[in-house]
Amino acid sequence: MSSTTLSFLTLLLLCSTPTIVDSLQLDSPSSSSWHPWRRNLRRSTTARTVPPQGYYTPTDAGGSMLTQIPITYPMGQGEPLNAIVSGNSDERVLQDSEANGGLRNYFLSFGFSGECLGQHSGSNQAANLGDGNGYRNKTAVIRWNYGDAQLGACKETIQGGNHFRYWVQNGPAGNSGAVFMAVSYELPLDQSHDIIPNGYNLGRDWLVGNITKNFVQTPNVTNSTTFTGTTTWASYTYETNITYVPNLLQNTNDAINHNITVGATTNSVDGLVAVLEVKITGTPPKSISAA
Ligand SMILES: *[C@@H]1O[C@H](CO)[C@@H](O)[C@H](O)[C@H]1NC(C)=O
Ligand SMILES: *[C@@H]1O[C@H](CO)[C@@H](O)[C@H](O)[C@H]1NC(C)=O
Ligand SMILES: *[C@@H]1O[C@H](CO)[C@@H](O)[C@H](O)[C@H]1NC(C)=O
Ligand SMILES: *[C@@H]1O[C@H](CO)[C@@H](O)[C@H](O)[C@H]1NC(C)=O
Ligand SMILES: *[C@@H]1O[C@H](CO)[C@@H](O)[C@H](O)[C@H]1NC(C)=O
Ligand SMILES: *[C@@H]1O[C@H](CO)[C@@H](O)[C@H](O)[C@H]1NC(C)=O
Repeated sequence: MSSTTLSFLTLLLLCSTPTIVDSLQLDSPSSSSWHPWRRNLRRSTTARTVPPQGYYTPTDAGGSMLTQIPITYPMGQGEPLNAIVSGNSDERVLQDSEANGGLRNYFLSFGFSGECLGQHSGSNQAANLGDGNGYRNKTAVIRWNYGDAQLGACKETIQGGNHFRYWVQNGPAGNSGAVFMAVSYELPLDQSHDIIPNGYNLGRDWLVGNITKNFVQTPNVTNSTTFTGTTTWASYTYETNITYVPNLLQNTNDAINHNITVGATTNSVDGLVAVLEVKITGTPPKSISAA
């Protein structure tokens, strides 16, 4: 462990007092919530059916493309679900697992890791994907790992950076298996993890840039922008087709969390959702995958 890493960890422990927007809670390893994401994963009882676009539109069935945040909910402000892993993606990618090329391995392939040291951090936002499950708490918070898959998410927790929460559309009224993500770029912990100006659109596009390895000019994305990227982790190679889809979100500053600061110069939400369709194009040699 490097000394920088150690000082991050020390800081992390020192900084674990709750802040207004995002709080850090150390879960005891023996508690059932040590793997917080597992809590919220109920198996769906209906067979998965995927509409051509790769997901059911939440607002068609009483859902919302904005999250609910415990603190701001009374005021009705939420964060945009601004990226979706399509239900038309490879079946293996839609499993919430790091093994077998699953979703968490896919996240790692473009530089995003699970919670720092298994901690449960960040506010418990809820989303209603219109799938009949109503509002459900997030599955997990995933953070850009600064190139360090093991401890980089700890650095993100302290220094801020890109991160997302996600929810799986798998309820009885709409089981597409699609993964809805609320991506944003946050300020450091000592600034209460507020979001940087334009931090929802930029967070989405920097994540897309991490997949394509080409910086995305946010003012230039339109309702017909597409990209393709190839990423690899643990010998699984993923091809991602990215399509910017309009009309799921509005181009607006209204009802968006932190809209006063995030939307100071441009609407907090530009109305586009990045839909990611993912195929596995390379797998480890059999001897490794069997291990
Ligand atoms: C989310 O979790 C919090 C804290 O555990 C709980 O109080 C709340 O009822 C949950 N919300 C939903 C929608 O499940
Ligand atoms: C990858 O993500 C980081 C953190 O959000 C960002 O600074 C960087 O510009 C991204 N890379 C590309 C090529 O977009
Ligand atoms: C973005 O748009 C501006 C203005 O139309 C243009 O000059 C610039 O070349 C575009 N950048 C990219 C990367 O497409
Ligand atoms: C895409 O944007 C163009 C230019 O603003 C607009 O004319 C068109 O109706 C939009 N298409 C959709 C599907 O929203
Ligand atoms: C933020 O959203 C609220 C509605 O939740 C709206 O009343 C307010 O005008 C918005 N603020 C800005 C600066 O756009
Ligand atoms: C991406 O689009 C290309 C061209 O339409 C297609 O050949 C390829 O199979 C697509 N890949 C994915 C991951 O959907």
